Amino acid sequence: STAPASWDRPLEGKVAVVTGAARGIGATIAEVLSRDGAHVICADIPQAGEALSQTANKVGGTSLALDVTAADAADVLAEHILSRHGGADIIVHNAGITRDKTLANMDDGRWNSVINVNLLAPQRITDVLIEKGALKDGGRVVDVSSIAGIAGNRGQTNYGTSKAGVIGLVNASAPVLAKKGITINAVAPGFIETAMTAAIPFATREAGRRLSSLLQGGETIDVAETIAYFASPASNAVTGNVVRVCGQSLL
Ligand code: NAI
Repeated sequence: STAPASWDRPLEGKVAVVTGAARGIGATIAEVLSRDGAHVICADIPQAGEALSQTANKVGGTSLALDVTAADAADVLAEHILSRHGGADIIVHNAGITRDKTLANMDDGRWNSVINVNLLAPQRITDVLIEKGALKDGGRVVDVSSIAGIAGNRGQTNYGTSKAGVIGLVNASAPVLAKKGITINAVAPGFIETAMTAAIPFATREAGRRLSSLLQGGETIDVAETIAYFASPASNAVTGNVVRVCGQSLL
């Protein structure tokens, strides 16, 4: 088919959901999808409070208090989407946490919380949204993995495993979702300065910075622009991919 006349606002008329949108990479994703024309539903935990409203206001979207690990999270989100918009076109599973510890001290609590937020929640929510018709046929799913899920990082066995799991999830889901014209892709950011990485001890941060083959990272905008590509009509036939976002020099 022919190229569209203009790529200005390629997401005009689309409805997008971004989890973990209150701050960091998620807030920038919300900004970029909104710039490209989408109405953005900005979701984050209730404790995100004012920061979440600020993101939603900034992008002219709506805010939704949603802990992605809550038992009813997927149903609440589906209901929100269906009652207000009749369906969503894009979901970006950006919400993520770290609970770092050396392997010997990695207790069940740290394993469970990280796996629940980073891996199981994206899977369950995508599944329920599709089942309930809240994610439209032809829709887009974008998951956020990490270089730590490709290369591994000391102190982050739980986190790296969850992010490697996200890649497995994308691989397994792509052929299934393709039957509905839905694409699923992931970004694997390198080191990005956010509240999440600011909290990491120096040695782990520096080890993380060296994980990517390019020894580099990027900024939140670099991750968001890659996600915007996966959300746009430019990537109609692109599914089942993991793109590393770690090529910007930090030195
Ligand atoms: P951040 O900690 O600054 O922001 C994460 C957001 O997710 C916060 O607003 C938080 O409230 C929200 N969140 C946490 N648990 C949630 C839950 N249960 N339900 C809903 N929202 C929840 O982190 P950052 O750096 O912006 O990370 C965003 C994503 O990018 C995460 O998935 C992270 O693992 C991933 N990532 C980050 C990298 C980095 O260097 N900053 C590198 C690679 C991946």
